[in-house]
Amino acid sequence: MGTNFPAIRKAVFPAAGLGTRFLPATKAQPKEMLALVDKPIIQYGVEEALASGMDNIIIVTGRGKNSIEDHFDVSFELETILEQKGKTDLLAVVREISDMIHVSYIRQKEALGLGHAVLMAKDLVGDEPFAVLLADDVIDAEEPALRQMLAIYEQTGASVIAVQQVPRAAISSYGAVQPVGEVDGRWGGRVCRVGNLVEKPPAAEAPSDLAVVGRYLLTPTIFRLLEQTPRGRGGEIQLTDALRALAAQEPLYALRFQGRRHDTGDKLGFLQATVELALKREDLGSEFRAYLRGLAL
Ligand code: UTP
Repeated sequence: MGTNFPAIRKAVFPAAGLGTRFLPATKAQPKEMLALVDKPIIQYGVEEALASGMDNIIIVTGRGKNSIEDHFDVSFELETILEQKGKTDLLAVVREISDMIHVSYIRQKEALGLGHAVLMAKDLVGDEPFAVLLADDVIDAEEPALRQMLAIYEQTGASVIAVQQVPRAAISSYGAVQPVGEVDGRWGGRVCRVGNLVEKPPAAEAPSDLAVVGRYLLTPTIFRLLEQTPRGRGGEIQLTDALRALAAQEPLYALRFQGRRHDTGDKLGFLQATVELALKREDLGSEFRAYLRGLAL
């Protein structure tokens, strides 16, 4: 279907959080570089962005994030050694992704919150719509979650956030959306307009059981709103506050995406993702399944 809205080419990855839930592993290494099977968490997100047509990657880093830069950079030394040893398959694995993307880095000097991290990307994004991915939400989906969201943007030109239905008791760990109006019939009943958002509401006060997860398509209006957003809880600038202001000014849609989301910033979520992704791997799956079956659980 044709569209008159500007294409979304840029994807912002806020990766400047402290990762306290994963200490001590995250003391000297960002959580985005922890490997799921054999690939750093952030690479899953970058591959999702690329598969959704976004090859301009902007990574917001904090202290000690050099390993992210090294990961997406060319490693002449490693490539030369692999070449000399004739390991062409590994050479391809190492080269594959960095060849296809353009990566920029911007530093968030203080961890002043997700909203502040997104605001850091303002000059690199410019006056155009863009995507934000929280890499520790790894979404395993037939059609990349971001591409599912793009389908809505392409018809509406509006901002879109990804949501997931969670048990009522769990909503207090997330941002919850308050839908307005009827469910939109256009996308298989999976899309609604957002009237309001509430960060980590007690279950009894939650406006719905639809939890915001780490994928956003945003119009550049968000930057102006972030600039006006006062510091909230913990002295941080909350993205949720700016999204609430956005929803009051422009249409904001929420999509219940299809796919399986893993919260890999959480230890149990990380372990579950490791097991499920390993089981799906052609080179490992059957042996790993046999191993798990043999465990006396
Ligand atoms: P989290 O809420 O997961 O916080 O941030 P965190 O610091 O990374 O991890 P914990 O809770 O201490 O274990 C959500 C996303 O926002 C980014 C994080 O890197 C993560 O992708 N973030 C958060 C920033 O980039 N800057 C911030 O100041 C805060």
